[in-house]
Amino acid sequence: MMNVDLKYFSGTGNSYKVLDTCKDVFIQNGCTTTLSSITEKSDIIEGADLIGFCFPVYAFGIPRICRKYLAGLPKFDHPTKAFVLITAGDPEESGFSIMESTAILKNKGLNVTYSRVVHMPSNWTVSMNPPPRKEAQRIIDSGIIKAKAIANEILGGVPYHHAFNYPPGYSRFGFYKDYYLFKWLGVSNLWRSFRTDETCDACGLCEQLCPTRSIQIENSTPKWTNTCEQCMRCVNYCPKQAIFQKEEGSIKDKNTYHEPTFKPLKIKPQKDHTAD
Ligand SMILES: Cc1cc2nc3c(=O)[nH]c(=O)nc-3n(C[C@H](O)[C@H](O)[C@H](O)COP(=O)(O)O)c2cc1C
Repeated sequence: MMNVDLKYFSGTGNSYKVLDTCKDVFIQNGCTTTLSSITEKSDIIEGADLIGFCFPVYAFGIPRICRKYLAGLPKFDHPTKAFVLITAGDPEESGFSIMESTAILKNKGLNVTYSRVVHMPSNWTVSMNPPPRKEAQRIIDSGIIKAKAIANEILGGVPYHHAFNYPPGYSRFGFYKDYYLFKWLGVSNLWRSFRTDETCDACGLCEQLCPTRSIQIENSTPKWTNTCEQCMRCVNYCPKQAIFQKEEGSIKDKNTYHEPTFKPLKIKPQKDHTAD
């Protein structure tokens, strides 16, 4: 019987959903399977025969937190199989995400036998408009079907490696510009751009839901800090659609998106910064 350990990072539930669907297939096939977020339980379980990862693509790369997590894994000195799945708002725009993660994992001594991109709805609400609800559900449903097929292929020992492609419609310059700008400047600075409009009533949901604890309510206003990964959970779960980025403007007339069954853990704020 195989021991499988599954790790994900997920802002709005897509990467969780894909890996959780794989988990169900592994369990149905008699594998002992654990699934956890890299933000909650990060150690790989002892004696895992197969390790699976699922992350979203951010600006053609993997989120900074995932890069750091993979780089911090111990070296594996016994043969262990691994697979990497990437969820993408546009399956043609996964960029370097698979390459980046498989390169780090191989360097750790893991035998990466399977890597694949799964199309799920876009959640980058500050910069683009996610699909409307019905269209989003259609994409999720086919993502789930794909995730089941992927898990069965992995169990059956079928190898698959995603082939890198330049995103259609991008010049080489545009592609590298977006990748490096986000990687070297964006993710370390965009936390400064978050704003809330007058409909924010400081309910604190954004603070409680943030997977990296990068939001604190101060003087009845949410404040972001530099550990923010741009995961868009706060933006997409805000009941008032009050959160936006100053360069991009209000999201009030856009669709919001999170995978509808994804119920992220609410974290109790560490300190109450709200002035009475
Ligand atoms: C900051 C940011 C950058 C993104 N960049 C890309 C991208 O380059 N290509 C793409 O196909 N999707 C992109 N997306 C969409 C997400 O990768 C996609 O919606 C993913 O499934 C979200 O996963 P999650 O729900 O697990 O967080 C981006 C989303 C965010 C928040």
